Amino acid sequence: MEILVVSGTPGTGKTTISNNVSNCIEANVVSLNELAISENLIEKYDSKRETSVIDNRKIVEYIIGLIEEYKNKENPKFLIIESHFSDIVPEQYINFVIILRCEPDELYNRLKSRGYKEEKIRENVQSEILGNCVNYFLNKPLNVPILEIDTTNRSIESVSKTIIDILMKKIDSNDFIVGKVDWLEKLFQEDRLEKFFD
Ligand SMILES: Nc1ncnc2c1ncn2[C@@H]1O[C@H](COP(=O)(O)OP(=O)(O)OP(=O)(O)O)[C@@H](O)[C@H]1O
Ligand SMILES: [Mg+2]
Repeated sequence: MEILVVSGTPGTGKTTISNNVSNCIEANVVSLNELAISENLIEKYDSKRETSVIDNRKIVEYIIGLIEEYKNKENPKFLIIESHFSDIVPEQYINFVIILRCEPDELYNRLKSRGYKEEKIRENVQSEILGNCVNYFLNKPLNVPILEIDTTNRSIESVSKTIIDILMKKIDSNDFIVGKVDWLEKLFQEDRLEKFFD
């Protein structure tokens, strides 16, 4: 069994894409956000930021136990662990890292249609512009390349197919190594940075 860790700012499509991929290939999906709630791995609720604070130590322990259980099984071929904080998965277990990206304007619209309040949308869009989810992985001593896929203006099926092709080694994953997506530079060139930062 190989482990794919999917990360990305909220709204980039981790859950949608991971579930879609698992419908097409032999893969199970673990959503760390759901797991944290179902297994009571939450430290507290941050009401100002309207988000749960995860108990890092507990969730890492739980994930290691889960992976060890899966390792003894023949199937599935892949375990997909998805969350915006999936960088907590210890590096020795990771076979693939894919970070989903989304252009700030489109991400804004995706989060708006979720009914998120303005402050929460801004916080997430800023995080995407700064590439925080990528940076968390760059700080890890990984043995595998960090890949990123821009989901902007692409269908869920098309992004899923790219991921399946990467897992099946049907396409060259070097084409997806982080560094191509740079929203900060794009917005700077377009003189639109003030739209997202005060
Ligand atoms: N190409 C695309 N890839 C992924 N999602 C897309 C795409 N185009 C549109 N979407 C939409 O964007 C939304 C992504 O939501 P989803 O819940 O999958 O994000 P998430 O990354 O899991 O967020 P969270 O971190 O909050 O759990 C969905 O409504 C999905 O239909
Ligand atoms: Mg999700």
